[in-house]
Amino acid sequence: MTELVDVLQRPLHDLRISVTDRCNFRCVYCMPKEVFGPSFAFLPRRELLTFEEIARLAAIFRDLGVHKLRITGGEPLVRRDVDTLIERLHGIEGIDDIAMTTNGALLTPDRAQKLAESGLRRVTVSLDSLDNDVFQSINDVGFPVERVLDAIQAAADAGLTPVKINMVVKRGVNDHDIIPMAAHFRHTGQVLRFIEYMDVGTANGWRMDDVVPAQEIVQRISQEWPIEALTPDRPGDVARRYRYLDGGGEFGVITSVTQPFCGACSRARLSPEGQLYLCLFGQRGYDLRTPLRDGASDDELRAQIVNIWRTRTVRYSEERSEHTTPLPKVEMFRIGG
Ligand code: GTP
Ligand code: 5AD
Ligand code: SF4
Ligand code: SF4
Repeated sequence: MTELVDVLQRPLHDLRISVTDRCNFRCVYCMPKEVFGPSFAFLPRRELLTFEEIARLAAIFRDLGVHKLRITGGEPLVRRDVDTLIERLHGIEGIDDIAMTTNGALLTPDRAQKLAESGLRRVTVSLDSLDNDVFQSINDVGFPVERVLDAIQAAADAGLTPVKINMVVKRGVNDHDIIPMAAHFRHTGQVLRFIEYMDVGTANGWRMDDVVPAQEIVQRISQEWPIEALTPDRPGDVARRYRYLDGGGEFGVITSVTQPFCGACSRARLSPEGQLYLCLFGQRGYDLRTPLRDGASDDELRAQIVNIWRTRTVRYSEERSEHTTPLPKVEMFRIGG
């Protein structure tokens, strides 16, 4: 293990696997519909990695120190048989945590149960507001909040716990929902995380003024309930944790804009068509599908990944200033946050 870290220069613990670029939502901060409308060309099926290919790569990443996988998209549940992928990944020795980030729209009790049986450990559900009008103004689907709340319950009932809830906070859009969301998820065992609105992708028209700093969020919550900071679950985790002193549970803030955490970043990202990205804001991906389909051996693929990772110098969030970069960046929905 020590040897591998030496070879890699920086540790690699966490692989985020996006299984599709499609999504049944069009969130304003991720896939604004003016840009990603009905005529937008998503990847054709043959471009996507097969589950067998994904599992083979995951095993190679495991050799390099990855023990934690997160399945993302687009919306991962749009791939109807994604449970069979989970089953394959679960079968890889040394992979001890498989989680999924989903918008919950397709997470029925049956599906949640099946995913849990396949080896999924945890689910994170995105939910930005409890108010139907605000919720719909963000994701642009005629879809009630209630159905996402049902999905959260289905995940909890299936043991995909702790269920985490991701709320992206955008000033003037849903920051008035911070306290109602906190109140709703207190005493449920579910962990609400407030995410600073980021300049991911190229289409969301991000401005620093839209960001509600995590410090402000924490302060607003502390005016309602006494809280204290907790130590991180694991080194390199993105969320700062807090607990309610009255036993109401915990919440987190993800401070990627105001207090970036690139120094501890040990995450790699695999896009649906097999490009390796070294950063959420990556300007380029590294093609792993071509060597994979051209018959490269595991050793050859491992060597390629080592070469790519060891030259990694990215730390986008630490370099971002008041302004987002004018350079092209990968779209968030392709590599799943
Ligand atoms: P666990 O700690 O495994 O529960 O999950 P997580 O918090 O890493 O995963 P999740 O998908 O819920 O991530 C939460 C959000 O944090 C993502 O949607 C991103 O917005 C943000 N995030 C995650 N990883 C990174 C990262 O490497 N860099 C930046 N800037 N933001 C990240
Ligand atoms: N800023 C912060 N978080 C974002 N997400 C999507 N777009 C953004 C953005 N611009 C979050 C989603 C989801 C996770 C995968 O990324 O809400 O929870
Ligand atoms: Fe929204 Fe996630 Fe779909 Fe992006 S991928 S539009 S954040 S649900
Ligand atoms: Fe890692 Fe890039 Fe996020 Fe920094 S901005 S924490 S380098 S993914």
